[in-house]
Amino acid sequence: MKVEMKSSDTVRHLYVHFPFCARICPYCAFYKTRGNAVEVGRFCEALVREVQGSSALLPSTIYFGGGTPTALKTSQLEVILSAFHQRLDLSELKEWTIEANPGSVSARKAALLKKFGVNRISLGVQSWDNDLLNLLGREHNAAQAEESFRIFRDAGFSNISIDLMFALPGQTERQWRDSLQKTITLEPEHISTYCLTYEEDTEFLARFERGEFSVDDDREAGFLEMAMIMLERAGYEHYEISNYARPGFRSEHNQAYWRGADYVGLGPSAFSTRGFERWQNIADHHEYTRRLFANEAPVVSAERLTPEMKRTERIALGLRTCEGIVAHTLEQNQVNELVRHGLLVRRESRVSLTRTGRLVADSVAAEVL
Ligand SMILES: C[S@@+](CC[C@H](N)C(=O)[O-])C[C@H]1O[C@@H](n2cnc3c(N)ncnc32)[C@H](O)[C@@H]1O
Ligand code: SF4
Repeated sequence: MKVEMKSSDTVRHLYVHFPFCARICPYCAFYKTRGNAVEVGRFCEALVREVQGSSALLPSTIYFGGGTPTALKTSQLEVILSAFHQRLDLSELKEWTIEANPGSVSARKAALLKKFGVNRISLGVQSWDNDLLNLLGREHNAAQAEESFRIFRDAGFSNISIDLMFALPGQTERQWRDSLQKTITLEPEHISTYCLTYEEDTEFLARFERGEFSVDDDREAGFLEMAMIMLERAGYEHYEISNYARPGFRSEHNQAYWRGADYVGLGPSAFSTRGFERWQNIADHHEYTRRLFANEAPVVSAERLTPEMKRTERIALGLRTCEGIVAHTLEQNQVNELVRHGLLVRRESRVSLTRTGRLVADSVAAEVL
């Protein structure tokens, strides 16, 4: 299947998916695998071909995620970063993020990323508690995570985000408070806090179904509230349910996505959206690589979005942000009801979640959709 992009429709946001990890975490449902050196090498060549073939891209943001892009050898990372520079027009690039796993960070890689213009790091710390890191099957401990943060700082990165996870099995309020406090002490510019979700086809979901783990909405809301209180007090703006930033450091890439901007995704499993067209690359790195070497498109499915699908998506994503959504896109009686209950607030022509509303964001979204 081939999706043509008209050259007039320049896309400003690029996502690149690197599908390999050194170790597979038992809760993770992103497309990833443990590849051998030959597979990773061939994949890099295939990715370079896809970058070369992608037209009508003038990125203002690039997000290089995965998987674990920092699991690449320094030499392979250099090949891919060089390919981006040679084959893309980066003259309008403002934000270039890479996802980094503390288990695969080195001063050499950090220096290389800096040299090639990557200017934002998203560091997957998850927790500062070694018992919880063990439970999560992480390949690093807390000391390595701190060392990685310092490596990036020393390499000159002034925009670092830290990922944390909460409502983990057995996690106490105290452990969560300590993780938040430790993060604040390091003074990252951005912090993402994700509530653990039990995803399909993961070991964690199997353990949940066997009754080893359980979910408690009140507990999750309590953890979220603790994050809101501590991070806002420390000077972070809660600009999306899972995201906090110091003024001026909100993620441009993610905001574009939440606002419904067009984006192109390269690499296996990546989605692209332009106008009403959405397509996805095949979520199989062998077949992805084979196709690129055979000059075939890696696209596996495409659909035409309806205006209603677009509207629903815009509301679902926008409602999670502090910008909220344009009020007239919602049913007004329902909005008035939610405002009366203190869950939504009107600001000029828009509505957004109140503090209480943020604690029950999924229920509010279910009401209005
Ligand atoms: C693409 S992933 C990972 C980046 C990198 N590979 C790492 O693990 O450090 C981005 C983030 O999603 C979050 N995440 C992954 N699976 C999750 C799940 N099941 N529930 C909640 N958050 C999850 C983690 O915080 C992770 O850092
Ligand atoms: S959480 Fe990150 S390191 Fe773990 S399997 Fe998923 S992508 Fe790989």
